[in-house]
Amino acid sequence: MATHLLLNKRLILRSAGLAACAFTALFLVRCSDGDSAIFVKEPLPYSQDALAPTISTETMGLHYDKHYAGYVKEANALIQGKGYGGKTAEAVIRMTADDASKAAIFNNAAQAWNHAYFFKCLKPEGGGAPEGLLAEMIDETFGSFENFKAVFLTAAKDQFGSGWVWLVLDGETLAVITGANADTPHAHDLTPLFTVDVWEHAYYLDYRNRRVDFVKAVLNNLANWDFVADRLEKALPPKE
Ligand SMILES: [Fe+2]
Repeated sequence: MATHLLLNKRLILRSAGLAACAFTALFLVRCSDGDSAIFVKEPLPYSQDALAPTISTETMGLHYDKHYAGYVKEANALIQGKGYGGKTAEAVIRMTADDASKAAIFNNAAQAWNHAYFFKCLKPEGGGAPEGLLAEMIDETFGSFENFKAVFLTAAKDQFGSGWVWLVLDGETLAVITGANADTPHAHDLTPLFTVDVWEHAYYLDYRNRRVDFVKAVLNNLANWDFVADRLEKALPPKE
């Protein structure tokens, strides 16, 4: 019988030191107060009605134009004048993780990033099974693609309250993890590959309390495995 592996590591925020403005021999890299462009509302890679009926147009509209847009706007407002100029979104997330005094920045920054990535993990007429190296690594880690889906669905069911379910790369190994609220693999030195948002706003209009049915439908109908496979290949070290 095929075995599967669930590395359901609860994401624990780690300390991340504050990066300082850096001097080089020739250039002074000065932290700017003009930080408003760090978080950008990325365009959806499909129309808002393209994922229906798995995700309704109403849910997608609210999710993209209200929830996601709200996190982007709030993240930019919170970093204004705080010395994050020139940083990437990922850097801001790492710099604010596990710092209670910066929890509001972390929560909005991570939610902005997580949502942009989640939308890219989906496509109309997606689903099916991955191919190539991604398929090989899923088989190696979980025993089969069907076992991977079972592990992912169990993780979605067991995530208490709002959060995210992720397929990540941990070093050179795949793992399924969950994160509460805004938590994100970037805060834990893990590489995000695929995710499903399990906040109620992601599914309640369409699925009511049936979270697992929502995640199953996303896996079967919308998962963009070509995007995930591309991310995996870019994240792995080049072969000798
Ligand atoms: Fe969401």
